[in-house]
Amino acid sequence: MKGVILAGGLGTRLRPLTLVTNKHLLPVYDKPMIYYPIECLLNAGIDDILIVTGGEHAGDFLKLLKNGKQLGVRHLEYAYQEGEGGIADALKLAEDFADGEKICVILGDNIIELNIRRAAADFYTQRSGAKLLLKEVPDPERFGVVRFEGEGDARRVAEIIEKPKSPPSNCAVIGVYFYDADVFGVCKDLKPSGRGELEITDVNNYYLQRGDLTHEILDGWWTDAGTFESLYRAADFVARGGANHSDQPARKEAAGAR
Ligand code: G1P
Repeated sequence: MKGVILAGGLGTRLRPLTLVTNKHLLPVYDKPMIYYPIECLLNAGIDDILIVTGGEHAGDFLKLLKNGKQLGVRHLEYAYQEGEGGIADALKLAEDFADGEKICVILGDNIIELNIRRAAADFYTQRSGAKLLLKEVPDPERFGVVRFEGEGDARRVAEIIEKPKSPPSNCAVIGVYFYDADVFGVCKDLKPSGRGELEITDVNNYYLQRGDLTHEILDGWWTDAGTFESLYRAADFVARGGANHSDQPARKEAAGAR
């Protein structure tokens, strides 16, 4: 399986910091933000990685990461996203890189404590479709949120709603996604959302409607780092506990949505 890190965008929520650099190059405690998703993929055994970035500071990724060898990346590629078309628009640029293989996609501002190796292994054996990682959060309205149907073992994902005003649960879809090669056809058929972007949530709802979406609940802490509050929280988490250093995997939930 190959890895794709989406590290574009203008980072407007972190201005003025992002006027002079890309959000994903900002420090999270003692490392640039982009190191964390790279380490997350490496810890899951994925060392063939594409970074999709954009904007004025894209060249700084090369300055920092070069060919990735010093971090242990076997093969590192870069792609450049023109404009601000959203996460699913950025993902389109990974089609040639993926070359028909399954992919693990990570948003470049997502930082997780533990290891996603087992989730990756589970998806490796999943015949087709997609897999999401979920996490309960106190502020679900900031994220893609799951609406569940049923109880206990029969609980299943019924819908994913992007940034709902009245969240139907506190279960957020974190920015780590597993997809089969159909994802690129799905992205091409998407229509822009109200905020003018191709939404990854629409991709996930497509797989859900196809009956080909599984999920796991992530153990350990997780945060995005795209606002001042979450960037500060991420640095605090890392300073107190480290990130990606443990081998404990994501917890498999009994009731996948397949
Ligand atoms: C994006 C996704 C959202 C997801 C979140 C995870 O939101 O659209 O569904 O829950 O990442 O970090 P954004 O950070 O673009 O607002």
